[in-house]
Amino acid sequence: MPEPDELLDQYGVIGHPISHSRSPFIHGMFARQTGQAMVYRRHEVAADQFREWVRNFFATGGRGLNVTVPHKLVAADLADELTPRAQRAAAVNTLAIQKDNRILGDNTDGIGLVRDLTENHGLTVRRRRILIIGAGGATRGLIAPLLALEPVEIVVTNRSAERAQELTIAFQDLGAIRGCGFADLSMGTFDIVINATSASLSGEVPNIPADVISATTACYDLSYGKTGTPFTRWSIEHGCEVAIQGWGMLVEQAAESFCLWRGVRPATAPVLAALIESAVNAS
Ligand code: ATR
Repeated sequence: MPEPDELLDQYGVIGHPISHSRSPFIHGMFARQTGQAMVYRRHEVAADQFREWVRNFFATGGRGLNVTVPHKLVAADLADELTPRAQRAAAVNTLAIQKDNRILGDNTDGIGLVRDLTENHGLTVRRRRILIIGAGGATRGLIAPLLALEPVEIVVTNRSAERAQELTIAFQDLGAIRGCGFADLSMGTFDIVINATSASLSGEVPNIPADVISATTACYDLSYGKTGTPFTRWSIEHGCEVAIQGWGMLVEQAAESFCLWRGVRPATAPVLAALIESAVNAS
């Protein structure tokens, strides 16, 4: 007889809103594939309840959480200890209880993006010019793992230029990086253009000049949707080589979290295929 859910190790994703999260689907498949006895649920928790809710979750036996909008920065503050990459990002998407009951905060977003770009899509970052659009919490997690691959440079562009400049100053010691506003983007084309804004959520495309894209540019949107995103559609209209939605990053960052929690790395390819199929077939 299978054990009742309450007796299994408890995991989940916490956010606001959270009802559309695909993380339970992904972690459910990982658990079945690797034979791990665990449950993974969605938890809708408002910002003012976040700290108390998380402390209670771990105090009552919870093992791990993924953290999403709008809690990633507060989660970094709440954690008793941060991995170096979470410390660099000052943002946390994964919490794990440790043997001494201290809460560890990690950030698996950047490594998730890097795996999707390089392993799933065969793209090269080394010696390439990278443009990241947006200077919010999502961008913070991406910069260090991308700089570690030694691109020629990373330019972070943001609607408010000041925010891009401020953000990039914190990463100057890791490699060639600078920040600018959309209007200052007259610096030729880029090899990889990453949309890390939340513009897709409101059906918008960041107002950047289309001449950052050439016929050899790979465009990547951290967002995803059944029929593409406004940014991937815009990129295709402006002649990019390939436009990629963030399904793969979603699965790869989840795999890294799963590995931190359970000490076993799941295979991502079948989960990514099932996720895209379920999204395409959803009514
Ligand atoms: P996240 O954690 O998702 O990064 P955030 O910290 O609120 O969320 O940041 C959202 C990012 O999307 C910001 O870079 C924001 O630009 P501003 O700093 O100028 O606000 C960007 N953004 C949101 N909607 C946008 C839009 N319609 N066009 C361009 N940028 C947009």
